[in-house]
Amino acid sequence: MRIRKFALLLFLSISLSFSQAQQPRASEKHPWWQHAVFYEIYPRSFADSNNDGMGDINGITSKLDYLHALGIDAIWITPCFPSPQVDFGYDVSDYRDIAPEYGTLKDFDRLLAEAKKRNIRVLLDLVMNHTSDKHAWFVDSRSSRTAQHRDWYIWRDGRGPDQPPNNWESTFGGSAWQFDPTTNQYYYHFFYREQPDLNWRNPKVEEAMMDVARYWFKRGVAGFRLDAVTTLFEDPKLSDNPVTPGLNKFGDPNMEDKYNNRLPQVHDELRRLRKVADESGDRVLIGETGSDDVAKLSEFYGPNLDELQLPMNFFFTEVNKLSAPEFRKQIAEWDQNPKHGWPVWVLSNHDQVRHYNRYGDGDHNDAIAKLMATMLLTLRGSPIMYYGEEIGMENNDPKSRDQVKDPIGKLGWPKEKGRDGERTPMQWDDNANAGFSKETPWLPVPTSFKTHNVAAEEKDANSVLRFYESLLRLRHSNPALLDGEYIALNENDSNVLAYLRKLPGRAVLVALNMSGEKQSPSFDLSAQGLHAKTAATLLSSSSAQGQQNLSKVTLEPFGVFVGEVGK
Ligand code: GLC
Repeated sequence: MRIRKFALLLFLSISLSFSQAQQPRASEKHPWWQHAVFYEIYPRSFADSNNDGMGDINGITSKLDYLHALGIDAIWITPCFPSPQVDFGYDVSDYRDIAPEYGTLKDFDRLLAEAKKRNIRVLLDLVMNHTSDKHAWFVDSRSSRTAQHRDWYIWRDGRGPDQPPNNWESTFGGSAWQFDPTTNQYYYHFFYREQPDLNWRNPKVEEAMMDVARYWFKRGVAGFRLDAVTTLFEDPKLSDNPVTPGLNKFGDPNMEDKYNNRLPQVHDELRRLRKVADESGDRVLIGETGSDDVAKLSEFYGPNLDELQLPMNFFFTEVNKLSAPEFRKQIAEWDQNPKHGWPVWVLSNHDQVRHYNRYGDGDHNDAIAKLMATMLLTLRGSPIMYYGEEIGMENNDPKSRDQVKDPIGKLGWPKEKGRDGERTPMQWDDNANAGFSKETPWLPVPTSFKTHNVAAEEKDANSVLRFYESLLRLRHSNPALLDGEYIALNENDSNVLAYLRKLPGRAVLVALNMSGEKQSPSFDLSAQGLHAKTAATLLSSSSAQGQQNLSKVTLEPFGVFVGEVGK
């Protein structure tokens, strides 16, 4: 046992020293963002430098060494601009500053400079669909029908007394129209009523937002994650959306978002924004572009790959059970997307229950977290991690309605508990509040912070954190994992998800046991021109190292094997 542990430690430390020299590389063929591992930070919850119970920019800066050692190449910070915080930053009241509770522009510039020293790029979250109702544009817009900014938002008369202009619903519950007595008209909001939609048919809105992008590019941000970007445009005739059977979690009638989502004009704006990004150097645009339809989703790459470099799909976030066939299907579809765009993969984010809970069975949660990490980080494409997944952080949902902070949780309780559970403070150590803050944090940490925290896991060679570190090192240093083709293997196996990442002359085999039983798949790779009978272990959740026989690769329950296959 001790020898095994020693071997594992030796293996981990060898790979550590081997790949610390490896930095995220951009080659002629591969722009930096294709080799980068992205990491989403919810600034309110990541690190609190001034002990007020909320994270901040200086907190993020203080953790750059941690992120660098982990192997992160780029961070995406969810909105950190001034905001009334109704939707925790997604209601922006000033696009050109930092929220005072998170710091100052000077702090942000320091973050950029310190991140650069460590080869970490910084992305911001651009909310183009709507502003806060406290933004100066909207304050002016609502003040009179002839105000300078009136047409920057979508104002309409009702259909009759107390009747909104049409049947559109807010995705956060209730009508998407809010009556405003000052001017006796309704304004449109796809999200909360405190988030009025901008009118993208007004060229001044477009110009103002492109200028915001230029402003941050000039400051040094490497790109943006574009919030809710599919809903920029609405049908000018305001046609009613088709109603479908049943009620949603807010008790509203179900309906298709036919006339207020994914209108074709969105693509023109994305091409314009992409030009702005390209004029600023090697910047990247990531989009919140969820759709079940792969063809539609892939349109966000643009007809000539001239829109988003990385349109996010939420396929994995919608899979709520461990299922090799289901993941195999999702991967194949996106890997082969019709535009041949570079894939991007996400398991968790600030709007979804953490995957630790979605896939965990209660007994093998850490093994399952490692299994899912192996999938996320060995696929062809750019992975986006969510803070805390690397330590096996779990959701901590509110226990009662009065604990809820996220308004949709209050509105939809108990069917919709809101998103607080996946936004709790990062767990740094086993001190009070998981070492996040000396003050009571804005959301409580789960009791599992005692075992699942950075300090404890750094000391434990078998922790989820150490596993992520090894995986990330491997990913950055192995050409087949970075650039190799994805080839599905053993496609009828309902327990083991297996694939090859293949470059001419070298290949990596990945085998992931998604079942609670031991599995021993066999791999015949001759159809891929590979005649080797063994694979050299690169990473494995079992103690077996060295050459593995391909006719019988033994996988523990929820076990993983990653191995280099020779010719
Ligand atoms: C996106 C964000 C979500 C936010 C919404 C409105 O979906 O991810 O957190 O509430 O947009 O801005």
